[in-house]
Amino acid sequence: MGVSIVDLQVNPRIISATKRAGLHDSTAVLNLSGAELERLTGLTSSDITQLKDAVSEAVLGTGTITALEIWRRQCSEETRVPRLSTGCDQLDKALRGGLLTKGITEIVGESASGKTQVCLQLCLCVQLPVKYGGLAGGAMYICTEGAFPNRRLDQMARHFTQRYSRVTKHRFTDQILLEHVADFDGLDQCLQRKLPLALARGKIKLVVVDSVAALFRCHYDNHNLVGRAKHLASLAMQLRRLADQYNVVVICVNQVSANMSKVSDVSSQPRQSIPALGLVWADHVTCRLMMSRRDGYVTMADTFRENETEDRTVDKRMGTESQPVSRKRLEVVFAPHLPPVVFPLVISQSGIAVEMNGLGT
Ligand SMILES: Nc1ncnc2c1ncn2[C@@H]1O[C@H](COP(=O)(O)OP(=O)(O)OP(=O)(O)O)[C@@H](O)[C@H]1O
Ligand SMILES: [Mg+2]
Repeated sequence: MGVSIVDLQVNPRIISATKRAGLHDSTAVLNLSGAELERLTGLTSSDITQLKDAVSEAVLGTGTITALEIWRRQCSEETRVPRLSTGCDQLDKALRGGLLTKGITEIVGESASGKTQVCLQLCLCVQLPVKYGGLAGGAMYICTEGAFPNRRLDQMARHFTQRYSRVTKHRFTDQILLEHVADFDGLDQCLQRKLPLALARGKIKLVVVDSVAALFRCHYDNHNLVGRAKHLASLAMQLRRLADQYNVVVICVNQVSANMSKVSDVSSQPRQSIPALGLVWADHVTCRLMMSRRDGYVTMADTFRENETEDRTVDKRMGTESQPVSRKRLEVVFAPHLPPVVFPLVISQSGIAVEMNGLGT
C-alpha cells in the first residue's frame, strides 16, 4: 500500500480524475506508463507529469538528496548493524567492530591458511554477551569437507573458558550445532529445512558453511557451467535471505584456484591463486576475506612482545606461552564498509591473534 492519492500535493482536478480512473494510491500510479495514465484518466501529458512528480516526492520524500546525505545515511545504518567480534581486538578495530550480521562473509584461501581456525573461533565468540563482542547465541557449523576438527575446538574452547571465566560459565562446545553434509541433497535439506527451523527458534546467530567450494568442485565439471551458476546463485540467495531475515552472520569458506591469467604489466604483482567459484559466486559475496600462509614459526611470547594482553595472561597461566605459533595473513579483499587492508596473524593453541610487529612480513 503506497501513499493515498488524496494526500498528494497536486491540483485537485488531477486528483479527482485519477480517483475516477480507479487509481487510489501511489503504487497504482507507479505501475502504469505515462501513456496508460493519460488513456485511463483522460488527463493531458503535462498533468500526468505533475501527477508523477507529486507521487515521486511523496514516495521518496521531498527535496533533492545529495551524495553526501546518502553516504551519511548509509554510514549511520552501517553502525546500527550488529557485529560479531573475531576475538581479537586489533582485528575488530580494523573491521570496524567485527563481521556484519548482513549478507555473506566469505573466507577464502589456500589449504592450511587458517580458514577453519577462524571459523571455530567465531563459533566461540558468537556465544559471548553482546557487551563482550558476541551475539549471545549459538552457531550452526555445516561441514562439507571430511571430519570436523572436534579436538581442536575443545582445545580452543578450554582457552576461551579461562579467558572469559568471569563473564560466562556455560560450556562453549554445547552451543555449536554440527551438520555433516556429504552431497547436494544433504545441503539442500539442511539449508531449506533444518537451518530455517533452527534460526526461527532464535538461538543461532552464526552460520558457517565450510566449505561451499568442496561440493561444487566435486559435482560440476567444466561442461555444465550454466547449471553450476544457477545452483550457486540459488544457494547464495537462500543464505542471504536467512542472514537478512534473522540478523545472523553467515560465513562461507571458499577454496582457491591457480591463477592462469597472464599479466602484461610486470609492476603489478599477480596473485598466485584466485578465489574458486568465479564471478557468479563473487557477485553474491558481501565481504571477502582472503587468508594465506606465511613462513616461519614464532612463539606466543614473541607475538605479544609489547602488549600485555588478556590472551597473554591466559597463555602464561596455561603454560602455552613458549609454544610455537604458525603465521598466517588475512586480507580484506572487498567489503562495503572497509578499505583493503592486510593483517599478519598467528595461530596458537588458544586460537587466532594479530601478530604484533608482524606487519610487512
Ligand atoms: N594448535 C595449533 N597451534 C598452532 N597452529 C595451529 C594449531 N592448530 C592449527 N594450526 C595451524 O592452522 C593450520 C590449519 O588451519 P586450517 O585447518 O584452518 O586450514 P584451512 O585453511 O581450513 O585448510 P583447508 O582448506 O585444508 O581446510 C595448520 O597448518 C597450522 O598452521
Ligand atoms: Mg578447513
